Amino acid sequence: MKKILLSLIFLYSISSLLIGQTQAGLQKDILISTGTSNVDLVYKVNGRDGRLYQSYIGAKLGNLLSLNQIRDAGHLAYATFGTDNLFEPAIRMTHNDGNPSLELKYVSHNVEKPNANITITHILLKDPEYPVEVTLNIKSFSAEDVIEQWVEIVQKEAKPLTIYNYASSMLHFDASKYWLTQFHGDWAEEMKMQENELTSGIKILDTKLGTRAHMYQTPVFFLSLNEKSDENNGELIAGTLGWSGNFQFLFEVDEKNSLRVISGINPFASEYTLQPGKVFKTPSFIFTYSNQGKGLASRNLHHWATSYGILDGNGPRMLLLNNWETTYFKFDEPKLNGLLDDTKKMGLDVFLLDDGWFANKYPRNDDKAGLGDWQENKTKLPDGLGYLVKEADKRGVKFGIWIEPEMVNPKSELYESHPDWILKLPNRPEHYYRNQLVLDLTNPKVQEFVYNTVDGMLTKNPGIAFIKWDCNRMMTNAYSVYLKDKQSQLYIDYVNNLYNVLDRLRQKYPHLPIMLCSGGGGRVDYGALRYFTDFWASDDTDPLERIYIQWGYSYFFPSVSVCNHITSWGKQSLKFKTDVAMMGKMGYDIPVNELTEKELKFSQDAIANYKRLSDIIWHGDLYRLASPYEGNRAVLMYVNSAKNKAVLFAYTLNARYGESFNRIRLQGLDPAKTYKIQEINVPTEGKHTGGSESGKTYSGDYLMKIGLNAGSSTALTSNVFEITE
Ligand code: DGJ
Repeated sequence: MKKILLSLIFLYSISSLLIGQTQAGLQKDILISTGTSNVDLVYKVNGRDGRLYQSYIGAKLGNLLSLNQIRDAGHLAYATFGTDNLFEPAIRMTHNDGNPSLELKYVSHNVEKPNANITITHILLKDPEYPVEVTLNIKSFSAEDVIEQWVEIVQKEAKPLTIYNYASSMLHFDASKYWLTQFHGDWAEEMKMQENELTSGIKILDTKLGTRAHMYQTPVFFLSLNEKSDENNGELIAGTLGWSGNFQFLFEVDEKNSLRVISGINPFASEYTLQPGKVFKTPSFIFTYSNQGKGLASRNLHHWATSYGILDGNGPRMLLLNNWETTYFKFDEPKLNGLLDDTKKMGLDVFLLDDGWFANKYPRNDDKAGLGDWQENKTKLPDGLGYLVKEADKRGVKFGIWIEPEMVNPKSELYESHPDWILKLPNRPEHYYRNQLVLDLTNPKVQEFVYNTVDGMLTKNPGIAFIKWDCNRMMTNAYSVYLKDKQSQLYIDYVNNLYNVLDRLRQKYPHLPIMLCSGGGGRVDYGALRYFTDFWASDDTDPLERIYIQWGYSYFFPSVSVCNHITSWGKQSLKFKTDVAMMGKMGYDIPVNELTEKELKFSQDAIANYKRLSDIIWHGDLYRLASPYEGNRAVLMYVNSAKNKAVLFAYTLNARYGESFNRIRLQGLDPAKTYKIQEINVPTEGKHTGGSESGKTYSGDYLMKIGLNAGSSTALTSNVFEITE
């Protein structure tokens, strides 16, 4: 101990000397601007101490020169632990000689310009005493006003060292008040929005689930500065982490009312051994800044996501008929052929065969057995998947399949043959969730197994046109035989190796549509969505609940990625269910053969309407006009970039006695254009209210200043308007 203390004092004096040398070398401050079209994030190297500071974040500055005149450099850009920082650090490590401190000085920076829209700034920082280098990477997407930040840590010491904190991003704000909007939930009740003022001290949003980012907390937030923001007013950032495992957002308000926001992998129980020469790369923190409220922030993220965050985000999508809620595990070939017929009859594109098609020794007839044994069940599918692909083809539709390749039931051949491939604690009972356990993806043999499961199925059946990749549990009682004494690396290595498997699959199958699913919305993040075309938003498909759930997702994820299925959940009308599903990527999971003739015709027409309008819904600009959190109706609209076509959805959630809704002002239209309003999805039977505007023509100016009647006097009804120049 004494020895460490002495060497610390020695090191301190050496580094003071070095600071002196650096001062002489640097002298002048250096400004590093990493902005987008409308946002500036400016760093400053302080010539007096050689450290890097965050000098400014906010609306674009006309001129950066004034920043140079401020003597106070700002807040440490990537605060370390062990020297003079008294608040939460972005990074903490112990060197292999036991020294628990890190000092980072600016060395250099360079700028890459892969294309006109993207600028990547790399800022190299180094400890003056130890061969440890930290590179801050800032990728700015100019047109979308989105910034991605990640960090790379390299050490060249003689032996391994341990890192305890390794944030992707550290941002600082100086405002009078801070308002944090977070989204929490559980299975079947995802994306519940809460807003609170941050007070002095630390507030943490995080999860510790291992296999996925969220279930109880979603890895997204809004942070409003000074005042609360609404859809069109207020200054805020919207942030999210591209990581499919434990995440942490930490908000610390200090004694001067400054706020630091530290985002990254949750460091909880995750100290990591960094080998000499190896790079530790953090996931990306992705954020946008808006001084025009949450609406603009969402549109920025949607534009970014469709171009860069989601696989083939700007491309088309196929519409599904899924059999999960219709058959559960009970089906055979004749039943499936009937569902293929239904897919065609409805005008849908793909039939997606869900859970229950595999395993023979322990057949998958419920969720208690078979997971891990990915061979077709001979009783249910005597002719294999290939037969179903052919049957689909005969009908002019496609065939898709469900898998959950990271998991295993104890009642399976996989469990019997490879007990060491499974995450489970020695000396403790196995702990199940949905009767299953997680495979140990840190083990290369398991990675190979997962890759081969998917690749083998696709090689044997090249006609498979869609996959739903499920993940129905988190880690509990987890221990990796493979990791031996490095158990604290499990959470991180699991996710990185999942990405390695997905990388390999995507090299071979770059555009195959794959839905990301995790027992509902448990795996929705931009780390995974690089590999997936869409995600299953929730197992809760009751349309009233879905309005809130989908509303929540719409803040951060574009509608093209949010799968909404019309199912038997909820007692509302088929029209209401259809209109709710339409605000994202619509699909079906209902017994089509039980629809009346009129219901079938209504659905066929709705699907045709949806196909005509889907490009506007998926890739247009979203305007949320009336929030279900603030009243008894929810209204939103999408407008295409030419502003000659829009779709408006109005849902009446409740109708209090005597309540009437005001006209709602539209947004995003061209004031000079004239628009025709046409109601679609009008049922041919039963009472229908609220469509009084259909057939009328108004100027964009009128619609945006005076508005449209949207909402009816009957609870749980809806209207969809097609708005055409
Ligand atoms: C959970 C998913 O969310 C459901 O849609 C379904 O695929 C089941 N898993 C199948 O086990």
